[in-house]
Amino acid sequence: MCGIVGYIGKEQATPILLDGLKKLEYRGYDSAGIAVMNGGEINIVKAKGRLKVLCQMTDDGAAVKGACGIGHTRWATHGEPSETNAHPHCNDEKTIAAVHNGIIENYAELKAKLIRRGYTFYSQTDTEVATKLVDYYYKKYNDPLRAISEFALRVRGSYALAVMYCEYPETVFAIRKDSPMIIGTAKGGAFLASDVPAILKYTKSVYYVDNLEIVRLKSDGATFFNLDREEVEKVPVEITWDAEAAEKGGFEHFMLKEIHEQPKVIADTLNYAVKNGKIDFSEIGLENKFLKKLNGVIIVGCGSAYHAGVVMQYVIEDIARVPVRVELASEFRYRNPVASGELVIVISQSGETADSLAALREAKKKGLKTLAVVNVLGSSIAREADYVFYTKAGPEISVATTKAYTAQLIAGYLFAIKLAEVKKTVDAAVISALVTELKTLPEKVERLLADKEKIQKFAAETVDKNNVFFIGRGIDYAVGIEGSLKLKEISYIHSEAYAAGELKHGTISLIEKGTLVLGVLTQGALIEKTVSNLVETQSRGALIATVVTQGVRLPETGFERVFYVPETDSHFTASLAVIPLQLLAYYLSVLRGNDVDKPRNLAKSVTVE
Ligand code: G6P
Repeated sequence: MCGIVGYIGKEQATPILLDGLKKLEYRGYDSAGIAVMNGGEINIVKAKGRLKVLCQMTDDGAAVKGACGIGHTRWATHGEPSETNAHPHCNDEKTIAAVHNGIIENYAELKAKLIRRGYTFYSQTDTEVATKLVDYYYKKYNDPLRAISEFALRVRGSYALAVMYCEYPETVFAIRKDSPMIIGTAKGGAFLASDVPAILKYTKSVYYVDNLEIVRLKSDGATFFNLDREEVEKVPVEITWDAEAAEKGGFEHFMLKEIHEQPKVIADTLNYAVKNGKIDFSEIGLENKFLKKLNGVIIVGCGSAYHAGVVMQYVIEDIARVPVRVELASEFRYRNPVASGELVIVISQSGETADSLAALREAKKKGLKTLAVVNVLGSSIAREADYVFYTKAGPEISVATTKAYTAQLIAGYLFAIKLAEVKKTVDAAVISALVTELKTLPEKVERLLADKEKIQKFAAETVDKNNVFFIGRGIDYAVGIEGSLKLKEISYIHSEAYAAGELKHGTISLIEKGTLVLGVLTQGALIEKTVSNLVETQSRGALIATVVTQGVRLPETGFERVFYVPETDSHFTASLAVIPLQLLAYYLSVLRGNDVDKPRNLAKSVTVE
């Protein structure tokens, strides 16, 4: 959601900014712009729509000269996508330019004050307010750092803000609060960005900017300050993945590449927490004596992360016999939940989702311990949680998550098994069998991927469907809600996921001739029951497809479209059943000519409410 890039160094800035913004396209945006300093003057170019428009307007960067600049991709919040609302914004004299990610909550109040002080506004954005607020304090104190700290003292909300001042033509200043920002340093240049892929080509040495830290970026490096403008020491982190991990690597789309990475992601996540065949949470910091006393778990997340939590709930309750509640982070944060003694697990790929971060803070305020299941190193949720389980999915670029969801499931299984082991709710032999079974998952996912053409053909057959229903019971229902979300996100086909037993209580009225109903059938004794529900829809004209565990004999139904998944322990079937569902969403999106990796209206990392 909005992408920011900044550069100061020996090279021409514009091509570097455009390249960085391209790497951040996955975050979602509807306009883009750059501001580049040249001979003490700021040039601003902005465009509505895709980055290629901005590239054309600047002759791929060659037309805008200067070695210091900031760039931005905007995902509209305040005001429609337009050239005027696009960032960077500047003061009337064009001596200050800024880009911003996040939301300034009290922007209306600040805007009114600035208008009273003689400022004029041209856009509908909160960012123009932010820029003019910095301008106001810069004129008042003639100090670029002070202007930014005064800004921070007066705004409420979230922001990653980068500012250039004409009077400091070789410097970029920045600050952040609750919106991500990283700094990279290399020989002969320094970078800032919303996320690592934007600068990975140039450096692997990265600083994670803390909340309310101000950065001064010069070509020879970065200096960090607190709000009192005192210097703070920071240590860079070395990024271990390479630029190739953030490229498409021969696949047509990031999503397909990421679907194919899932066997490796499962293996890497297992290797992180399983040592010599035993689950080892020492790196995570979760101690056995803490787990032993645990009498409840609350899981929160948004989107697919929430769906991973729903699977986790079934698994933890079944094997560790501890009550689990799963909640949407956006609800948990506001409903003053009654909780004491539970562990709150916050699941988030990005570690920056605003609602999940707020839910984490709410949990901490209630004195609850928190475990983050997060993919992005050094992200806000990871830093604020008491314990962190890092999923090993690597950089995920496609907006629709696949491999991060898969890694979250693995984290959930491991947590459940560890809890069961500590609480002795299952025998040691069962624990060891479960861990052994987990290790077979990468190869089983490989097998499913090798058979992807079957799903491709099925997608061709169903490309014109406008309504799809997913049904299942237990974990089959939990995986259905994820399959349904994938479909909505990227194919734009309306879809619902229903607990199969609930179908009769209303939704079945929507079934008509040709409606596609997809049954997930991996949960032993529950299969027959869901089959009955499928048959009920078939009698009303539905086209039935099923995802079934190999070896299961379905009752005589006449179902023709059956997709088999390899056998595994019933607790882990979501990891296999989700693969055909991801592939179906992917192929339908391709066939419908959609922008698979950057679906309309969506953002990868939702840093606003
Ligand atoms: C957005 C993404 C979803 C994702 C959700 C939670 O809506 O489009 O794919 O599941 O945010 O993101 P997180 O980074 O917290 O997992």
